[in-house]
Amino acid sequence: MKFFIDTANLDQIREAQALGVLDGVTTNPSLMAKEGISGEENIKKHYLDICSIVDGDVSAEVISTSFEEMVKEGEALAALHPQIVVKVPMIQDGVKALRYFSDKGIKTNCTLVFSAGQALLAAKAGASYVSPFLGRLDDVSTDGIELIGQIVQIYDNYGFKTEVLAASIRHAMHIVRCAELGADVVTCPLAPILSLLKHPLTDQGLEKFLADHRNAQQG
Ligand code: G3P
Repeated sequence: MKFFIDTANLDQIREAQALGVLDGVTTNPSLMAKEGISGEENIKKHYLDICSIVDGDVSAEVISTSFEEMVKEGEALAALHPQIVVKVPMIQDGVKALRYFSDKGIKTNCTLVFSAGQALLAAKAGASYVSPFLGRLDDVSTDGIELIGQIVQIYDNYGFKTEVLAASIRHAMHIVRCAELGADVVTCPLAPILSLLKHPLTDQGLEKFLADHRNAQQG
């Protein structure tokens, strides 16, 4: 399973990279805005900065919503760096754009996916990744994890190459459940990844080992 970090914050990306478990980065317009990145040139530079930190796919989302504009914008993003994956929303023109990019050999991430039907369509259109937003489904009393299982099953049934990129991950158990279900990738902020390493018995055990060692040196 691949771990992507879902942020445009360069420090967080560096920290995740230093941990040695990072496989890529996903961004979206909200995450870029949160870092105060605006203007075409600054946005491009920021994507290049991210690519220089991590050795893996970096999703850059189009802002356009018409097929023609998405193609123009996506081609410009893809030309920035070989690691760039064009992130396209699950709308009618987005599906056309996924097919266009797929035929051109440009990697894509179909975003804002909330149903198995949308995920099926994204795979049919040749998306490289599909991003079901499981936390946002949980937020509206719908089981996001169940959707991950459905998509994995459907893709397995037909041998679709599209990778299931579980997004909108909120905590460690989301990651563990996605791993059990066979999601190809999880993307989340650094905190849920760091939560995976926490266990009180680990801390207690280490404290005791170190205390026993100290006592033995004194005796
Ligand atoms: O980047 C897409 C997705 O991961 C957003 O997550 O936390 O805004 O629901 P969130």
